[in-house]
Amino acid sequence: MDKLRVRKSLGLKGEIRISGAKNAALPLVCAGLLTSDKLILENVPVLKDISTLALLLGGMGAKVDFANNRMEIDAGSVNSYEAPYDLVKTMRASVMVLGPLVARFGEAKVSLPGGCAIGARPVDQHIKGLELMGAEITIEHGYIKARAKRLKGARIVMDMVTVTGTENLLMAAVLADGVTTLENSAREPEVTDLADCLVKMGAKIEGIGTDTLVVTGVERLHGATHAVIADRIEAGTYAIAAAITQGDLTLTHARPDTMGAIIDKLIQAGCTIDSGDNWLKVAMSRRPTSVDIKTQPYPLFPTDMQAQFMALNTIADGSAVCAETIFENRYMHVPELCRMGANIAVDGNLALVKGVDTLYGATVMATDLRASASLVLAGLVANGDTMVERVYHLDRGYEGMEVKLSRVGADVIRIKD
Ligand code: UD1
Repeated sequence: MDKLRVRKSLGLKGEIRISGAKNAALPLVCAGLLTSDKLILENVPVLKDISTLALLLGGMGAKVDFANNRMEIDAGSVNSYEAPYDLVKTMRASVMVLGPLVARFGEAKVSLPGGCAIGARPVDQHIKGLELMGAEITIEHGYIKARAKRLKGARIVMDMVTVTGTENLLMAAVLADGVTTLENSAREPEVTDLADCLVKMGAKIEGIGTDTLVVTGVERLHGATHAVIADRIEAGTYAIAAAITQGDLTLTHARPDTMGAIIDKLIQAGCTIDSGDNWLKVAMSRRPTSVDIKTQPYPLFPTDMQAQFMALNTIADGSAVCAETIFENRYMHVPELCRMGANIAVDGNLALVKGVDTLYGATVMATDLRASASLVLAGLVANGDTMVERVYHLDRGYEGMEVKLSRVGADVIRIKD
């Protein structure tokens, strides 16, 4: 397995181009199943999770071409409605083929994703919503089996804000017979990006960007071309790279308007921010100040930025409390950061971080994508070599992280196994 060797690299400077958002691209690829026409997606990041999903669609009989960040999906020849365990277990997001399959073909057999490194992560809300739309669902031998002649519009109130749950049900509702109301919907920009693409494909959706989506089902959708929204989490991660190294980075092809809660915290930490419609400049000229964070659904502070801000807090001036309210087990980076000299105490979903003067390089690893990113960030300010193992987690969500960081002056290299 590849590793990254990270060395102290203060004062990162230059431009980083932000890629399309993984979490937007994944549901958009699934939306390709909703039509027999071609769906063309641009600005698709080259990531392991995306190729896994392309493989899944290919296995169902769809034609998928992916080159130069452009994906063409032709689901006109789909002849299997199954998402097998082997693929779903490597990527939970593949459960999002469930809604499109049952909506367009009237049947689906999708492996239950099971737990993952950051918690149990059930899919009960996805199932409840489809049942309310009239699908007959059984769980057999670890698979969700769904059937419906045609889904029917329904009022669905989700018990908690779920991003992929909202996306799955939205994709089901666009082809249902009648009006579906999705209440307590996730408002993440990635949900909005999916809704915008579905509208281009002929869907009728009102309330886009709010917590109540009202969908009037149509008989069929047609092809469209859509560019994936910029990745606010990738941009946030590189913003922390600027802050932690006391550098000055300009993030191009970004969407600062989707990063409000992240930008507020960067300013509290002492960063100087400048931005335009599609760029964000983050500069830090002193030791960062500790910032308290509490993860919550959008537009509040994202759980996917918790580990990176934790890395910043480890070397900041002062103490900070972090409250993780979305996932029950999302502190896997804590023991690894402590091995690098950080001072962090965890109590349930709270973590108290006392800033230290110095971190020390160590061999570390994480079992989650964002946790791995936090270790790379810590490595940029640690004395000595930091070896981040299990880089495949990073490859799931960051397009060429070591390449992008090296271009702005970081000493980061990939060591091939
Ligand atoms: C998505 C993101 C992930 C991000 C997360 C929270 C994708 C591909 N992944 O994950 O990067 O960290 O949102 O912003 O977009 N829950 C249930 N039952 C359900 C569904 C969810 O109990 O049926 C719970 C989960 O266990 C979790 C919370 O709801 O505690 C939020 O999870 P959810 O928003 O669904 O996360 P994902 O969509 O899986």
